[in-house]
Amino acid sequence: MCGIFGCVLKEGNAAPIIHTSLKRLEYRGYDSVGIATLNNKEIQIKKDQGKIDEVHQRLDLNNLEGNIGIGHTRWATHGAPLKINSHPHTDCKGDIVVVHNGIIENFLELKAELQNLGHTFVSKTDTEVMAHLIEETQKQNPKLTFEQTVLESLKRIEGSYAFAILSTQEPNKIICARNESPLVIGINNQGVFCASDVPAFLSVTNQAVMINNGELVILTAEGYEIKKISDASPITRTPITIEWTPEMAVKQGYPHFMIKEIHEQPQVLRNTLRIQDHYLDLLCTFLDRANEVFLVACGTSYHACLAASYMFSKLAYLPTYPVYASEFLEQHGKSVNIDSTILAVSQSGETADTIAAVACAQQRAATVLSLTNVIGSTLTRISRVYIGTQAGPEIGVAATKTFTSQLSVLAQLALKLAKKRGKISQDEIDCLEEKLQELPNVVDTIVTTQEEKIKQLAKKYSDSKIFFFLGRGISTATAFEGRLKLMEIAYIPAIAFPAGESKHGPISLVEDGFPVVFVCPKDDTHKTTISNIMEMKARGAHIIAIIEEGDQDIKNLAEDYIEVPKDIPAVLSPIPYSVPLQLLAYYTAVEKGYDPDMPRNLAKSVTVK
Ligand code: M6R
Repeated sequence: MCGIFGCVLKEGNAAPIIHTSLKRLEYRGYDSVGIATLNNKEIQIKKDQGKIDEVHQRLDLNNLEGNIGIGHTRWATHGAPLKINSHPHTDCKGDIVVVHNGIIENFLELKAELQNLGHTFVSKTDTEVMAHLIEETQKQNPKLTFEQTVLESLKRIEGSYAFAILSTQEPNKIICARNESPLVIGINNQGVFCASDVPAFLSVTNQAVMINNGELVILTAEGYEIKKISDASPITRTPITIEWTPEMAVKQGYPHFMIKEIHEQPQVLRNTLRIQDHYLDLLCTFLDRANEVFLVACGTSYHACLAASYMFSKLAYLPTYPVYASEFLEQHGKSVNIDSTILAVSQSGETADTIAAVACAQQRAATVLSLTNVIGSTLTRISRVYIGTQAGPEIGVAATKTFTSQLSVLAQLALKLAKKRGKISQDEIDCLEEKLQELPNVVDTIVTTQEEKIKQLAKKYSDSKIFFFLGRGISTATAFEGRLKLMEIAYIPAIAFPAGESKHGPISLVEDGFPVVFVCPKDDTHKTTISNIMEMKARGAHIIAIIEEGDQDIKNLAEDYIEVPKDIPAVLSPIPYSVPLQLLAYYTAVEKGYDPDMPRNLAKSVTVK
C-alpha cells in the first residue's frame, strides 16, 4: 500500500500542495517520498528514502516549479526503501514520469523484454516498467497521443494499479488509471486533483469523483475526463460531496483503524497472492536444504508460525519447530548451528525478541530467512532472504490484516515446498492453489454476512469474566490468536489450549454459563471436536462455535455460532476462521467502551526485550 497524489492547477506551483497532501496520505506508507512537476516541458524531480518530514528537511519538497505534478509516499513491496527505488520513476530519457500504488505481476517478463530492446532500468521496482513501456509504445507508434499510448501500454500490464503519469509530450495533463488500487478525483475552482484517498485533498475540496476498476482519467486545469481502459469509451460521472471530517476520512469512515484493517483483508490477501514465484522458490530452496527449521516470532506472528508448522508438516512433510522468540536463546541457543535454518516472522521487523533470536542464530552460523511487513526493517537487513507480506501499514495495535497476510504467504511457501519435495499429488496441489485464490472472496463473504451477528454476540457476552478458546489440529493456532485478540483489546482474561487438553486440567474451571469459543472447521478433527464440545456442555459451558456453513451437528450443540463458507481445506482454515474472532474481539472492546486501536500498556512495535 502506497499513497499517490497529483494535481493540475490553473495557476501557482503544484509542489507545496502535493507535499501537504502526501502528508495526509502518510498513513498509507512512509518509507520514501517523491514529487515530480512539469514546468515549461521540463520535468523536475525530488525524491529520497525516509519519512516525508525528514526528506523535506533535506530537499525542500516545496521548491519545485510548475502548476502540474505528481507525488508518492511509499511502502516498499519490490525493492528496498532506497532513493533509487523511490517514486516517481522515469523512462530512459526522463520524459515520462510515473507514480504507482499496487503490484505489477508480470513486471519481470516486461522488464526482460524492455531490457532486450535497449531500455536501462535503474531501480528494483515493478513500477519502473510502466515508464519504459510507455516510452517503447510511443517509439513504436509515434502518431499516438499521450492518452492512446497509456491505453496501449495498460493492455500489457497485469496486476493491481493506481497510476498517475506525466509526459513532456502533452505537458498540460496528468493521466491516471485504476485497477484494484483505489483512485479518487477531487475538483475545485483552483484545479483538479487525483489521489489514493479522499483525505489527501479534503482540506481543499470536498467534491470527489470515485474512479472504478478499468477506468482511465485525463486531468487538465479545465477538468477531468473518464474513459474505459478496454475501449476508450467516455464515462460521465459527476462529483459527490464528501461529508467526512479529515479524521474520519483517514479511516475511510470507519470509527477505528482496527475495523478498517479487518475490512481490508480481502484486498490484502489478493496482494499476497501476487508475490513473485522466484522469491518463494528461493526461500523454499533454503527450507528444503535445512536439517532443522525453527519458526521464530512473538505474539500474533508466533500464532502464524504455529499454524505454519502444521502446513509444512501436512503438505511438505517438513517438521518445523515454532518457538517464541523470547525463549529461543534459552531453548535452542546452544544447539542451533550451521545446519539450522531460522524463519523469523514479524510484522514490524523490529521486535527486539525476534531480532535477538535471529542475532543468536546468526552468531552460530545458522541461515536466517524472514517474513515481514516492513521492507527495510532491521529484520530484512539481517536476513539472508526475506519476503514482504504486502499488507500495507497496520496502524491498529492489534494485528489483523498482517496475521492473515503472513498465513497466506506461509501457505504459499508450504505448497511450493510440497511441490518441490513431491510429497503430495499434483491434483491436491492444484486444488489447494485454487482454494487459496478463492480466500479473498471467502473473507469478504464472512465480513459481509457475519459482522452484524458478531456485533450482537459481542453484546451478549461482553460482561463475561473469562473465556476459553479451543480448537484441534491447526485450529489450535486460530484459537490462540482469537484469545490474544480478545484479551489484548477487550481486557477479558481468556485461556486457549488444544481442545484435547481440556480433560488434563482446564475443564475444572468450567461452570454454568462459562463461554467457550470452539474453532471447528469440517476437517479430520471434526468428530473429536464434537466430543470436546459435549464434555464442555455437560459442565454447563455456553458454546460459541465458528463452524462451516450448514454444519448441523454443531449447530445443534452450540448456543451461538458463526458460519464460514464451505469447503475450506484444513491447512488454509486459519485465514478465514480467524476473521470472526477478530470481529468478536473488536466489537467486544467497543461494547465495553475501550479504544481497540490503542490498548493500554501495549505498543505496536515492541523494541525492548
Ligand atoms: O511486529 P511483530 O509481528 O514482530 O510483533 C509481534 C507482537 O508484538 C505482536 O504480534 C503483538 O502480539 C500484537 N499486538 C498482536 O495483536
